[in-house]
Amino acid sequence: MIYMDYAATSPLRPEVRQLLLNCYHQDWGNATSLHSHGHRARMHLEEARERVARLLGARVEEVIFTSGATEANNLALLGWMRQQPAGSRLIVSAVEHPSVWEAAKALTFEGYAVDVAPVDRCGRVVVEALLELVGPRTAMVSVMAVNNEVGVVQPVPQLVAAKGSWKLHVDAVQSGLIGWPQLEGIDMLSLSAHKLGGPVGSGCLYLRQGLRLAPLLVGGSQEDHRRAGTSNLIAALALAEAMEVSVRSRPEELERLIGLRNRLETGLEGELLGRGAQRSPHISSWLFEGVRAEPLLVLLDLEGISVSSGSACSSHSVEPSRIVTAMGYSVEQSRGLIRFSLGHASSLEEVDRVWGAMGPALQRARLQAG
Ligand SMILES: Cc1ncc(COP(=O)(O)O)c(C=O)c1O
Repeated sequence: MIYMDYAATSPLRPEVRQLLLNCYHQDWGNATSLHSHGHRARMHLEEARERVARLLGARVEEVIFTSGATEANNLALLGWMRQQPAGSRLIVSAVEHPSVWEAAKALTFEGYAVDVAPVDRCGRVVVEALLELVGPRTAMVSVMAVNNEVGVVQPVPQLVAAKGSWKLHVDAVQSGLIGWPQLEGIDMLSLSAHKLGGPVGSGCLYLRQGLRLAPLLVGGSQEDHRRAGTSNLIAALALAEAMEVSVRSRPEELERLIGLRNRLETGLEGELLGRGAQRSPHISSWLFEGVRAEPLLVLLDLEGISVSSGSACSSHSVEPSRIVTAMGYSVEQSRGLIRFSLGHASSLEEVDRVWGAMGPALQRARLQAG
């Protein structure tokens, strides 16, 4: 079986698996309990926070542990905008993940306005067009660091350079391989463990010191009243470990995956999305003319190859990709979208097998399409 869908989720790194096994034996205390089990849990939770903060270049109190990046993105957008006067505006790019896109949509039903910043043919946010949308009522801008469907690196530094009184949120879930953005000028940043070789259900929101958000979950005083609920200590430790191993192996993995990605892309017959733009090497997305992605996925699956048709969150539906149509492709073209995504355990043999399987699979899919 070949797994080439790391942008959807990744297998556990061996270091994280070992840590989880150890934790299930030892680290099950409630961090708010007053006895020694609680004390030990609290200590380990704060150690995890310190490690995450150090890796991001943040202060410990700026890290809020969450159940993943969907929660972190929701908390950032809903938590900030809900404190703003009615009529305040939010800007999101046209290619944001559903966890940002739908949160923005929800805000329009609460009396806020949302402006959508366009992207170019490569899927890159057009900074000048985004800045033209900024007005006196703009309270927040949310732009991802790396797009999850195309892999294109977004111009976060240019947005930081152009910053006004609005807050900047960055969804940095897919930038683990190329490195998370520098926090200077960024007010909030979301991460998820399972894109880094950690478990699903663990993530964090960086929230710049001094800023307060309206919490999504209320109850206990955990996470400094910013996220109620018994702390998921094991998830926090696993996030810290996954981030640490990712950073440690980044130079080697980056070089290796660039090589694998280039090999996969050489001679593949189709249109490579984002060609010419700066892309994270773990994602390679293609439009194949005259085929529908679904039958192609099935044919590849029969060969033991798991790839995806764009984002996992929307691939169960037959809806055309919002990202690809925002890039200026037609709905019909967007139906032939296949995303290959690589990660820490991807190998040369796997890439060669997938490359070899693509030609016959495309031919069969086209025949089936008539
Ligand atoms: C760019 C991006 N943002 C947010 C998410 C959501 O992360 P999680 O699965 O941790 O909720 C994902 C993963 O699907 C993603 O790729």
